[in-house]
Amino acid sequence: MSGAAPVSPAEITARAVARFDSTPDPRLREIMRSLVGHLHAFVTEVGLTEEEWAEGIAVLTATGEITDDKRQEFILWSDTLGLSMLVDAIAHPAPTGATESTVLGPFYVPGSPLRPYGADIAEQEAGAPAWVHGRVLDLEGNPIAGAELDVWQNGDNELYAVQDDDAPDDHLRGRFLTDGEGRFAFRAVRPVPYPIPDDGPVGRMLNATGRHPWRPAHVHIVVRAAGFKSVTTHIFDAESEYLDDDTVFAVKPSLLREFVPRAADDPGRPEGVEEPWVSLELDLVLAPGEDTAEVADVGRTH
Ligand code: BEZ
Ligand code: FE
Repeated sequence: MSGAAPVSPAEITARAVARFDSTPDPRLREIMRSLVGHLHAFVTEVGLTEEEWAEGIAVLTATGEITDDKRQEFILWSDTLGLSMLVDAIAHPAPTGATESTVLGPFYVPGSPLRPYGADIAEQEAGAPAWVHGRVLDLEGNPIAGAELDVWQNGDNELYAVQDDDAPDDHLRGRFLTDGEGRFAFRAVRPVPYPIPDDGPVGRMLNATGRHPWRPAHVHIVVRAAGFKSVTTHIFDAESEYLDDDTVFAVKPSLLREFVPRAADDPGRPEGVEEPWVSLELDLVLAPGEDTAEVADVGRTH
């Protein structure tokens, strides 16, 4: 019988962390040492049982199995655990006067059609017409000509086009360029609250922890302009449900706007509108600089 002392949990953690000491890339070394240290600390703190760890492995396996080129369950974990917003907050610290950023979400599809000023992004009936207009400005309030708005949103059936087999691919999405005075306008529909996909492991987590899957109504916009930092953001309907408990923590007070109700016979109505509609006025402000990262097509969820 050996007289050696048993290896303690703390010793196991120290050995696992130290195994990354000679990682050549210093940033990877820092990340791996910290990640392993925090994972071990978590297991130690909660006294994770063998059954619970097996369940954790099963959840990770199910996450991989449900993820494909259309559905990205890993991003949903990141979103619903608040990690996406934390990474965003670290990347875009303290407001500078520029429009604040928020999550990209899984329904962004690159390559939306470029549409003319004032065009309708709804390619079929999708809810109350919304006239969205405003300017893209720099931090001093000067207009930015030729800025691109990349817009996508859901319709009154709660779905984005990429989720909806009955919708054309380019329904409720489009790109618009600002004119010489930094102005843009497009016709959209009033967005509605919707549940994130909850038929997979993330949905089971939400259910087991007494959380709901709902997001408040919003329109997604990415604004890009040469010489400025792009911003990936949402505009939230200030009247929406779930502003206080967005399941992905993406609401920032500066991103709330009024969708102003307008009568069917309002003389300012957009061409072709014959029913009650809403208008949304919106200035978007960009900080000077260059893009640090392209918007990634990391996979979609539907
Ligand atoms: C979205 O706004 O499209 C979204 C964001 C995070 C998770 C699911 C959907
Ligand atoms: Fe969304």
